[in-house]
Amino acid sequence: MSSAPLAFVTGGASGIGLATVKRLAEDGYHVVAVDCHRERLDALASSSNDAITPCLLDITDRRAVASAIAALPRIDALVCVAGIYQPRRWDEISDNDFQLMLNVNLLGTFIPMQEAARRMTPGSRIVTVSSRAAIGGIGFAHYVASKAAIIGLTRALAMELKERQISVNSVAPGFTDTPMTRSMPEDQYAAAQALEPTGKAADPADIAEVIAFLAAPSTRFITGQTIFVDGGKSLGGLAI
Ligand code: NAI
Repeated sequence: MSSAPLAFVTGGASGIGLATVKRLAEDGYHVVAVDCHRERLDALASSSNDAITPCLLDITDRRAVASAIAALPRIDALVCVAGIYQPRRWDEISDNDFQLMLNVNLLGTFIPMQEAARRMTPGSRIVTVSSRAAIGGIGFAHYVASKAAIIGLTRALAMELKERQISVNSVAPGFTDTPMTRSMPEDQYAAAQALEPTGKAADPADIAEVIAFLAAPSTRFITGQTIFVDGGKSLGGLAI
């Protein structure tokens, strides 16, 4: 591994995570792209250069995450993008649905944060990914809860790590064109897109831009914040 700054990006084989991996590599980082999706990681490996190291693991697997982070020479930026989504009316969400959502989106954010923060030195950065849905949304209450909790987790760790000069911030994307949203039926995708202030989904690169800003060493005076990257939709109310 080169002497470039090192970033560890979860969910790095698809959508917002993939755009973040590419952006940070362009910015001069060596990027470890973590994902549990083997085919997507293989595709990334075959299309990328030495600046990107694909890493197959499940972010909820404590031992796998700990040993992947322990194997790194250092860690300058952790970006926790990996997450899942599931449309479900409030009265159809099972305990298993709820637990899986919290396990992947919340515990799967906390585990890499905790393991990385143990090794980080002053000036390192942690960026989590919440969602505009953190302020509310219809038809996915367990997802909303998981993404609201990420904002609390981000603030709490920012407070605990500030004395070590490690910043912890979050990005809350609005509706973004990724494999996650493209898995919706086409008419639902079009309807959701039409509700955006611009009438369009964000491009994953729009989100990666803000993640890269928060991951940069120069943003040393920002911590505990959540930046909504949603074209302003969160300003106008709770409807999604
Ligand atoms: P995506 O589904 O395209 O990519 C997510 C990646 O995370 C996938 O490659 C998946 O394999 C990986 N992943 C899921 N569970 C994992 C696990 N247990 N271990 C390792 N990797 C795992 O999704 P997208 O749209 O790029 O979303 C990325 C993040 O942004 C998610 O946290 C999502 O909730 C959030 N977000 C997305 C929005 C959108 O409109 N696409 C809006 C707001 C937030």
